[in-house]
Amino acid sequence: MEAKKAAAEKAVEYIRDGMVVGLGTGSTAYWAIQKLGTLVNNGLRITAVATSIQSEQLAKELGIPVRSIAEVDEIDVTIDGADEVDPEWNLIKGGGGALLREKIVASSSKELIIIVDESKQAQPLGSFPLPVEVVKFGCEHTQRKLSKLGCVPQLRMSDNQQPYMTDNGNYILDCHFGKIDAAKDLHIAINLIPGVVENGLFIDLATKVIVGYRDGSVREL
Ligand code: 5RP
Repeated sequence: MEAKKAAAEKAVEYIRDGMVVGLGTGSTAYWAIQKLGTLVNNGLRITAVATSIQSEQLAKELGIPVRSIAEVDEIDVTIDGADEVDPEWNLIKGGGGALLREKIVASSSKELIIIVDESKQAQPLGSFPLPVEVVKFGCEHTQRKLSKLGCVPQLRMSDNQQPYMTDNGNYILDCHFGKIDAAKDLHIAINLIPGVVENGLFIDLATKVIVGYRDGSVREL
């Protein structure tokens, strides 16, 4: 917890009055939203755009003004977590199921600050199963096509034993690749499969990576 919190609070130092801020999703982004809430209550003026219903609710509870992405032309800075980060700052995201909105928000942002603890650093990517958001219709066929790319895709389930459903009403297939050598090629190949909405590979999107450590120290890559 200390590592995630430290990285998150460091990232929030980059937020200035008047900015439009993208709010990530997950247990690391949680700490960034908490800190932003404190600063807003002390007078910081920002507008936030959330990457999930969960983060939107948290932000609103904390008194952070939230707009829909349709209401803003551009996002100044987005702060978000990741499941894996490689030395080129390519990412696997979507462990929390918010990858589609996260990618739309990230790609509409001038800056994407990624906040992680040291366990998320990976070379190559792929130990963490790659989340792929797919439409329900024909998802068994989409799953078969994905497996031909060299992975074992597994339908993500919720605690109630029903398929997990994203904020967009889709399913997630967690694709176990083991290692991913050519992330950009894989990203293109996955998104060419009919039924795939988006995958959790974030290529060339991060502009800063902040790593937090258990002793509360941080390192900006
Ligand atoms: C959610 C995400 C998260 O950023 C990712 O899963 C990391 O989560 P956490 O900060 O809880 O470790 O991509 O879709």
